Amino acid sequence: MKPTRVVVGISGASGAIYGVRTLELLSAIDDVETHLVITPSARQTLLIETDLSVADVEARADFAHGSRDVAASIASGSFESSGMIIAPCSIKTLSGVAHSFSADLLVRAADVMLKERRPLVLMVRETPFHLGHIRLMERVTEMGAIVQPPVPAFYNHPATIDDIVTHSVGRALEHLGIEVSGLQRWSGPG
Ligand SMILES: Cc1cc2nc3c(=O)[nH]c(=O)nc-3n(C[C@H](O)[C@H](O)[C@H](O)COP(=O)(O)O)c2cc1C
Repeated sequence: MKPTRVVVGISGASGAIYGVRTLELLSAIDDVETHLVITPSARQTLLIETDLSVADVEARADFAHGSRDVAASIASGSFESSGMIIAPCSIKTLSGVAHSFSADLLVRAADVMLKERRPLVLMVRETPFHLGHIRLMERVTEMGAIVQPPVPAFYNHPATIDDIVTHSVGRALEHLGIEVSGLQRWSGPG
């Protein structure tokens, strides 16, 4: 049976932990093959925001690609995959996707998802937004991407940061047809 391939991008917005948790949740699911790209800025935020090294994060993926390697498998639409999630997605990377400015592998892989009409989830992280940011989000939405900022829900009574991160990532992965077990859902009051 072919594995479910998922491309995971980590860009340099705050919230590198969202990308790490994405890899961890996917690695716990049978027959999922992950392809990871970390931008140079995300290498910095990982070190600033977590206790993990880049190697620790890459070890959580099945394949780790260099961000300059535009000859990597995931740079081609002929390489089959179920979709891509960029977690977190910086405004710079959002802008790259919005303009098909495929100068690095992360944006190229995202552009491939759009041209092949595969799910692309962008966990855009910035606050506040100016109108230019909002127009970029409008543009990628028109192109078929799903903009899903990591805005927490509280109906599930999160007790820890881990609960918040896992819930946001779990909801994002649903767009790729991937179900994370144990994800708490709203089923009405009482
Ligand atoms: C600690 C830290 C936090 C940052 N947080 C954000 C953020 O939340 N959103 C954002 O768009 N950029 C943020 N940046 C800036 C991006 O890293 C920067 O724009 C970078 O060029 C993005 O490049 P990339 O998209 O190729 O990773 C942050 C930078 C640092 C060092």
